[in-house]
Amino acid sequence: MNRQNPNPQQLRFKLDFNERSDHEPAWLTEAAINTSDVWRYPDRSQLEETLCADMHIPKEALLLTNGGDEGIDMLFKYSTISHIQLLIPQPCFSQYSHNAEIWQNDCHFISVDANQPLAINQAKLTKNMKARQWLVITRPNNPTGEFMAQSDLMGLIIKAQKKQTRVFIDEAYIEFAEPEHDNLFSARDYVAMGNVVVLRTFSKAFGLAGARVGYLLGAPTLINRFRRLAPPFNVSTTSLQLAAQAWHNRAQLLAYTRHIAANRRCLTERLSRYGMKVFPSQGNFVLFNTNTVLKTLLFQVLKRQGILIKTALNDLPDAVRITVPFQLEPLLTALAEIFEPQRLAFDMDGVLIDTTDSYDQCIIKTVYQLSQVTVQQQDIKTLRSAGGYNNDWDLTLALLRERDYQGELQEVIDIFQRFYLGTETQAGLIEQERTLILTSLIKLISQHKTLKTAVVTGRPRSEAQLGLKKLNWQPHDVISADDVSQQKPDPEGLLKLSHQGDSQKGGFWFIGDTVDDMQAGRAAGYVCVGIGADKHLLMQAGADVVLDNVNQLESLL
Ligand SMILES: Cc1ncc(COP(=O)(O)O)c(C=O)c1O
Repeated sequence: MNRQNPNPQQLRFKLDFNERSDHEPAWLTEAAINTSDVWRYPDRSQLEETLCADMHIPKEALLLTNGGDEGIDMLFKYSTISHIQLLIPQPCFSQYSHNAEIWQNDCHFISVDANQPLAINQAKLTKNMKARQWLVITRPNNPTGEFMAQSDLMGLIIKAQKKQTRVFIDEAYIEFAEPEHDNLFSARDYVAMGNVVVLRTFSKAFGLAGARVGYLLGAPTLINRFRRLAPPFNVSTTSLQLAAQAWHNRAQLLAYTRHIAANRRCLTERLSRYGMKVFPSQGNFVLFNTNTVLKTLLFQVLKRQGILIKTALNDLPDAVRITVPFQLEPLLTALAEIFEPQRLAFDMDGVLIDTTDSYDQCIIKTVYQLSQVTVQQQDIKTLRSAGGYNNDWDLTLALLRERDYQGELQEVIDIFQRFYLGTETQAGLIEQERTLILTSLIKLISQHKTLKTAVVTGRPRSEAQLGLKKLNWQPHDVISADDVSQQKPDPEGLLKLSHQGDSQKGGFWFIGDTVDDMQAGRAAGYVCVGIGADKHLLMQAGADVVLDNVNQLESLL
């Protein structure tokens, strides 16, 4: 079994920007660039004519742009200089809100319906439609993937015609939509409508995100207004050549987009099985809602596997968007680590059991007895969470050495243990220990059919058993100080557990509260859940997520 951590620099799947992520178009491998004309300014008209001829629209009905983004930018420029309002439903592609901020033009963003928080609010759009406005519809929408029904889109276009409103339809992802064929408008249909401009791009299905080529098409009178706003040489000679070759080979697209659509169904089904609310998507991506901790965990664990996903989405704080890759298996395997843990291993002290009134007091009393100096609980906490001590005996000795103590470790242990376990005349501080994990969480994880539990602790076996007795819990495995030759941060104890598991069957998680725990977990290839207030320190040590207390784990299971 190989549970080595992949090199985080090794980005295998970039699934955060909806590009063609992991599958170069076949034609591109043989693409040729002719440099003989590069010393001249580019001429986009030839490719514009080819596209128009192939789509059976007049040659004035199409304008090539520097990526779809330039088309959006021109819409805002147009709105600003002509004092025309843009009517934009939310949630929307970030470039619309970004441009609104930059241009400070008249934008009316239509908020979602509280009952359908991710769907375009058509009723409100209709209500707010006015003459001279431009209504923006993105279909499939980004970031949700919503594909507005054909009849609804037609209804909006007709209402807009009646009100002398224009409609800007962003079809950046249209190639990935799989409605029945008569459910798509052709370029000719759009041109004939008279009040519509459509944005398309070579960045997504065509696989040319780096070349920056898109186009606007629509009634020539409308396209001409945009043409006046476009820089004359907005698409480079090399990009024009690449786009021409992509267009020429467009028959290759269908097999690719069908494959992505099949993967989209599979990913949607898998995430839904994991209890995620996945929005039905017709784009090359899926969007689902999580909670803040699960979102962090997803982002971190996938990133470690070389998979980037989008977790920063405007106005959707709990949403995650993942571009659907061509090779789905590595993503599904990485998701299983999070959604199908097969093993939960817990550190004991500070995670399951509060030892502030037992071990910490033993340290304070032992140090005092051997040096007459009183150490503060905060100093102990700081030292312990920073890591580097095998156990509290070593930590006590280190504190004593700072105070010029010359004695042996065994003396420290003997005194410490007397305080901890007690003597004939005095109760041990062990009695002061309190449990931190709720019985309901123990019940939840114990009842889980496939999940095995473990405690991996620096305590000696006898004291680990005392702790478990206090918790009234018997996990499947206990790895104590007596079972390993190296303590954490060495991964020995955790590796003993994972060698019994099957890496294909989901994740191994370690829940600990110290830097040593996180380092051990990281070295053993576990998903690392930190517990405690010092989030930054634990994240730096390798935690994938840090919870305030162990009981928050429930939100991840
Ligand atoms: C909805 C939408 N429109 C337009 C674009 C612009 O794409 P590009 O500028 O790469 O053509 C994007 C890119 O992510 C998008 O999501």
